[in-house]
Amino acid sequence: KLGPTHDLAELRRTIRSWQADGQRVGFVPTMGNLHAGHLALVDRLRKSCDRVVTSIFVNPTQFGPNEDFAAYPRTLEADLAALTELGADLAWVPSVETMYPLAESFMVRAPKALADTLCGADRPGHFDGVASVVLRLFLQVAPDAAIFGEKDFQQLLIIRELVRDYALDIDIESLPTVREVDGLAMSSRNQYLSAEERARAPALHAVLRETAAALAEGDDWATLQRRGFERLSDAGFEPQYLEWRSAETLGVPEAGRPQRLLAAARLGKARLIDNLAVDA
Ligand code: PAJ
Repeated sequence: KLGPTHDLAELRRTIRSWQADGQRVGFVPTMGNLHAGHLALVDRLRKSCDRVVTSIFVNPTQFGPNEDFAAYPRTLEADLAALTELGADLAWVPSVETMYPLAESFMVRAPKALADTLCGADRPGHFDGVASVVLRLFLQVAPDAAIFGEKDFQQLLIIRELVRDYALDIDIESLPTVREVDGLAMSSRNQYLSAEERARAPALHAVLRETAAALAEGDDWATLQRRGFERLSDAGFEPQYLEWRSAETLGVPEAGRPQRLLAAARLGKARLIDNLAVDA
């Protein structure tokens, strides 16, 4: 069974020895509490890489003061068992002190146009925390490739720009969102839902699907956005945003270019997000 690696020098020794043998090393950063979405990332990377490293670290710098850092589910033993089953090669499980050794840390400031909109508007500083921890993880693991889920579409775009801006030699791959049978995007935060809320939760994906279809038909966006908010409220959500954006810049969507519909809404104690491609 795969044991956790806590020591940075040991991590580096192992990965350097693989790379010295000409093996391609893939990396899947996570906050643990692994579900089928995370495991699909590991499985996908195993196809393009000789070795797969997963990290499990609940990153304090990406949580706001009133967010769920303390409550975030931590299930290391089950996570290691799932990774063993899938044939992952290494589980990097650093302590907070290993990730942030200074009393006051250097931090990445993500570009405002990407990081202050959508989830960043509701969660100030969130993407600075994500960029800071992912840069640290990339420097520690030094992988040849890394993979991120489309579930966190804004995060995926920000990581691609981070890699470009710092000229990191890492291929960034992505994977479509893995869903429950009723359409709900898999997420560790789904377990915050009561049974009754869980039954209503697929409305988020349903609204995105119907809105994307109506946009493709050329329906008026302002009307669709208002209806989407109403439908989410009727289903018991407290909608935060429903936005139609460029899939490349998160700015205003352009005809003939990739477009995305993105939404976030609170349901009970959970904040749920989802997004879909728009065929317009
Ligand atoms: P976490 O929420 O654990 O997600 C780890 C990776 O799994 C991310 O790339 C995320 O997009 C992907 N993922 C989560 N749910 C998914 C689903 N249903 N389908 C496909 N992929 C899914 O995202 C983070 O952790 C953190 O911000 C991190 C990048 C690790 C930095 O701390």
